[in-house]
Amino acid sequence: MEEPGPVAAFRTLLTPQGQAVLDRVSPYDEERALGTAETLRAEGVDPALTSAALTQARLRARARDRLGPAAERMFFTAAGLEQATRASVAARHAERYAGLAPGDDPELLVADLCCGLGSDLLALARAGPRVLGVERDPLTAALASANVEALGLTGRAAVRVGDATEMALDGVGAVFADPARRDSHGRALAPHRWSPPFSFVIDVADRVAATGAKLAPGVPHDVLPAGTEAEWVSDGGDLVECALWFGPLATDVARRATLLPSGATLTGDGSRRAEAGPVGRYLVEPDPAVIRAGLVAELADQVDGRLVDPTIAYLSTEHRPRTVLGSAYEVTDVLPFGVKRLRALLRERGVGRVTVKKRGTAVTPEQLRPALRLRGDAEATIVLTRVAGEQSVLIVEPLTSQW
Ligand SMILES: C[S@@+](CC[C@H](N)C(=O)[O-])C[C@H]1O[C@@H](n2cnc3c(N)ncnc32)[C@H](O)[C@@H]1O
Repeated sequence: MEEPGPVAAFRTLLTPQGQAVLDRVSPYDEERALGTAETLRAEGVDPALTSAALTQARLRARARDRLGPAAERMFFTAAGLEQATRASVAARHAERYAGLAPGDDPELLVADLCCGLGSDLLALARAGPRVLGVERDPLTAALASANVEALGLTGRAAVRVGDATEMALDGVGAVFADPARRDSHGRALAPHRWSPPFSFVIDVADRVAATGAKLAPGVPHDVLPAGTEAEWVSDGGDLVECALWFGPLATDVARRATLLPSGATLTGDGSRRAEAGPVGRYLVEPDPAVIRAGLVAELADQVDGRLVDPTIAYLSTEHRPRTVLGSAYEVTDVLPFGVKRLRALLRERGVGRVTVKKRGTAVTPEQLRPALRLRGDAEATIVLTRVAGEQSVLIVEPLTSQW
């Protein structure tokens, strides 16, 4: 069968000549790119090949933060890279599957449904199981196959072009599913509009008990089935996903927040509400994974804290908070919100630069900053929020060490 044009064009990059051109344009350097392209043209290299190689080199450089050093040997499309799971997060997923196959059981076959260009697929294959990736888009599937080969995982992983919803799943011992969750303009879709839709994940979990899925972190709690474990993951403070674990991949908790890179986790059932109370000496801003998992009450227990307002996820405590599950601050002032009073106080302290944190207020830092007309060399962190229902400002100092 003849391959679609973009796939055939991509394959030219995998030829010895393609690889040689790719080497010539790597590592990507924006300032040198034009000159290198001209030199290659003068040498008679097909400009389409040069342009494809330059694109790959540029995407490899862009992928490094997300996918680590392996990115230098991988192949990308811009859309595939945007949707690829960060390497740290993919490795974390893979640990659960490795746990299913103690001693590197060569028989376990994991189907990675909607494998994209293969970040999860590669992590799974490295962790032990054999993996079959299924990807509907032929070019993305070709990239995933090339990535398997580039990282020396042929024999551990294979990729098939096809519709995940039509996969028979015979002989499959476990499934990982990562549906596409954005439309072509990058807008987030509701779970029933994901491709394939969330109902597909539930259906697969009925057929293969050991199923895991990567969902949008904003997924509504009420669509998550009972008996599963939902794990909200943040990486370096960025909330990146809600992973949903079924059957033997789940532990006995309903909700988990996991913070990478530390791997610190907090668990609970997501139903408790923290008590509210007065602002104390310290403020704790829970990590977004803790907030989305609905585990602020559990964090409040840990730091012996209370909410500053029943509807806002800031905790306050009298004791220096010893937790890695949020950022901690010492509170120096609490005042009702008012530009004049805040301006006077910051002037008095010679504050010329403010970091603004906010939660539960319509005021934006962009509106506030010019109105404060700051002058001076000192810096301050201010928190715009509600305290017991009142719009308030807290002036705080970040605690650099929480221990
Ligand atoms: C979020 S991405 C997967 C990213 C992947 N986990 C990674 O880390 O690289 C989702 C992928 O699902 C593919 N897809 C969407 N609907 C599909 C379907 N019905 N069958 C197979 N693949 C599908 C899209 O083309 C896209 O590449």
